[in-house]
Amino acid sequence: MRLRARSARPLSGQARPPGDKSISHRALIFGALATGRTEVEGLLEAADVLNTAEAVRQFGATAEQIGPGHWAVTGAAGFRQPSETIDCGNSGTAVRLLMGAAAGYKLSARFDGDQSLRKRPMSRVIAPLTQMGARFDAGPQSRLPLILHGGQLHGITYRSPVSSAQVKSAVLLAGLNAEGETIVIEPERSRDHTERMLGVFGADIDQVEIDGAQHPRVRASKLTASNIYVPADPSSAAFPVAAALIVGKSEVRVKDVLINPLRLGLYETLLEMGAKLSFEESRDPIGEPIADLVVRASTLRGVTPPAKRAPSMIDEFPILSVLAAFAEGETRIEGAAELRVKESDRITLMVDGLKACGVDAEELPDGLIIRGRGPKSVKGGAQIRTMGDHRVAMSFLVMGLASKEPVVVDDADMIGTSFPDFTGFMTALGAQIETV
Ligand code: S3P
Repeated sequence: MRLRARSARPLSGQARPPGDKSISHRALIFGALATGRTEVEGLLEAADVLNTAEAVRQFGATAEQIGPGHWAVTGAAGFRQPSETIDCGNSGTAVRLLMGAAAGYKLSARFDGDQSLRKRPMSRVIAPLTQMGARFDAGPQSRLPLILHGGQLHGITYRSPVSSAQVKSAVLLAGLNAEGETIVIEPERSRDHTERMLGVFGADIDQVEIDGAQHPRVRASKLTASNIYVPADPSSAAFPVAAALIVGKSEVRVKDVLINPLRLGLYETLLEMGAKLSFEESRDPIGEPIADLVVRASTLRGVTPPAKRAPSMIDEFPILSVLAAFAEGETRIEGAAELRVKESDRITLMVDGLKACGVDAEELPDGLIIRGRGPKSVKGGAQIRTMGDHRVAMSFLVMGLASKEPVVVDDADMIGTSFPDFTGFMTALGAQIETV
C-alpha cells in the first residue's frame, strides 16, 4: 500500500502511542521462561511482537490475549523442543533474544525471518553463544535461516564489539542457564530493559565495575512470573513529536511515554536544536520511568550529536534526519554505523529520500550530513523508496506534513511491525495522510 502525506493544518490534541516494542518482546520472553502466570498490560500488538508471542508458544509456553493489549503468559518451566521453524518475521530483537533464551536448553531450533531479517548479521550473537557452549548450523555468512543446538552452557565475560542491547540481552538470557557468572561489557551502554526486567522477575543480576564503568552480571537463576505494564514507546512517540515541531502552530501532548535515560538521545538532541519540548507528570510505577511529552512547533537549529549518544537514539536517526532538513544549518550524524544493519541500510535510504525531496544530504561511512533548508523550505514532491523499512516510511510521511509538495512512500505496510494504525493516530491529531 502506498501512502501520501500532505501539508497539514496545525496538529493539536493528545494521544498515547502504542506500547514500547522492546519491553513488549521482553515481557513475553521472560514470562515464557518464568514459573507461574505473567500478565502484561499495554502490550504492543504489532507484527513483530505477535511473532514473539507465537515463538514462545512454539517453545512450550502459553501466551494469550485476554483483552486489548492485555496478555497472559505462562511458562513451561523452561523452553521445550519446538516442532516447527521459529519465524521471527522482520524482528532482529525477537530472533536475537530468543536465541539467547533458548541456548541453555537441550533443544534444536530452526530460526528464520523475512527478506530483511535474512540479510542482517547473526554472527554477533552466534559468537558469544558459541563461546558459552551452544552450537549452530549456519551458512558461511551466518545469516538466517539457521539452526541453534542448545545445551549445557558456561558463563563468560563478553566484550561486545558493538553497543547492542540485542547482543547484550542474548548473552544475559543465556547466562540465566549457564554455570558461573556472565558479564557483558559494551563500548557504550545500550538500553537496559533486560537488566531492569530480569530484576523484576527475580533473577540474580547486578552490576560490576570493570575499567571504571558499570556492566551487567547475571548468575544462573530461575525466573518467577511478574505482572508488567508497558508504557508508550518513545521511538513511536518520536513521529508525532517531530510532526508537531515542524508543522507551524502545532501543540501536542504525547502521553504515557517511556523516558528511560538510555532511550532519550533523540529528545536530548531536540532540546539542543531548540525544540519547545517538556516532560510533564513524570512517574515511575513499574521500574521504568514514564512522562507525558508536551511539544510545540519550533524553529530548529542543525546539530552534531556526540557519537557516544548513538546507542540511546539508534532507532531515531531516520526521523532526526527529516527534522534536520527543516532546521537552519548543518546536522552531522556520526558514530551510527549500526544504521547500515537495521531493517534496511538506513544511511543510504535516508540520504536517497532526502535528496529526492530537494534536501542536500551526504553519506558518511558511519552516519550522514544533512544541510538544513529551514522551516517551510523543504520541497518534498517525491515518491520514497522504503525497502519495507517501517521507520523510514513513517519519517518521510512526517516530512510530507510540512513540505511544499506532498510526499508518497512506496510501501507503508511494514509500519504495522511497530506502529499499528499510525495513519489513524496521526490523522486524529490533524495530519493529512491518505492511501494512494
Ligand atoms: C532493541 C535494540 C536495538 C534497536 C531495536 C530494539 C532491543 O537494536 O535498534 O529496535 O529491544 O533490544 P541493537 O541493540 O542491536 O542496536
